[in-house]
Amino acid sequence: MNKTYGMIKPDAVRKNFTGKIIDKILDAGFKVRGMKLMQMSVEQAQQFYAVHKERPFYGELVEYITSGPVVALALEKNNAVSDYRTLLGATDPLEAADGTIRKLYGESKAVNAIHGSDSDENAEIEINFIFNQNELI
Ligand code: RTP
Ligand code: MG
Repeated sequence: MNKTYGMIKPDAVRKNFTGKIIDKILDAGFKVRGMKLMQMSVEQAQQFYAVHKERPFYGELVEYITSGPVVALALEKNNAVSDYRTLLGATDPLEAADGTIRKLYGESKAVNAIHGSDSDENAEIEINFIFNQNELI
């Protein structure tokens, strides 16, 4: 089984889409190994998104992801990273395929409802960055 890190972003939590989004993730065959509602600190967000620190949207991204609570998810499934990113859809909801989470619940390229790891290696790093070992099943 492969793992991925999912995160329902503050816009989607604020709009009460958490339940609907988790339903879609479970329906797609993912097992939840960790789940928590949390407020990211600015320092945590800067570190989480450090790979984007040279990008023009970095400041905005840190502000957005710390604008309210997120729901952190450690997920497991065969082919988890790739299947989960297919379920999310393209970064920009306008370009995301019909039925994907970003198409259904995202607002814009920047404010796009949900995060998903982009590789097995980053999935491991992100899960361990967010969760303590005793929070994972
Ligand atoms: P994510 O990491 O959140 O799963 O999204 P992703 O791989 O599809 O996109 P990525 O390129 O890693 O970008 C990370 C997040 O930064 C915000 N973003 N804003 N204003 C912009 O042009 C822009 N581009 C990206 C989005 O919140 C994106 O998910
Ligand atoms: Mg990414």
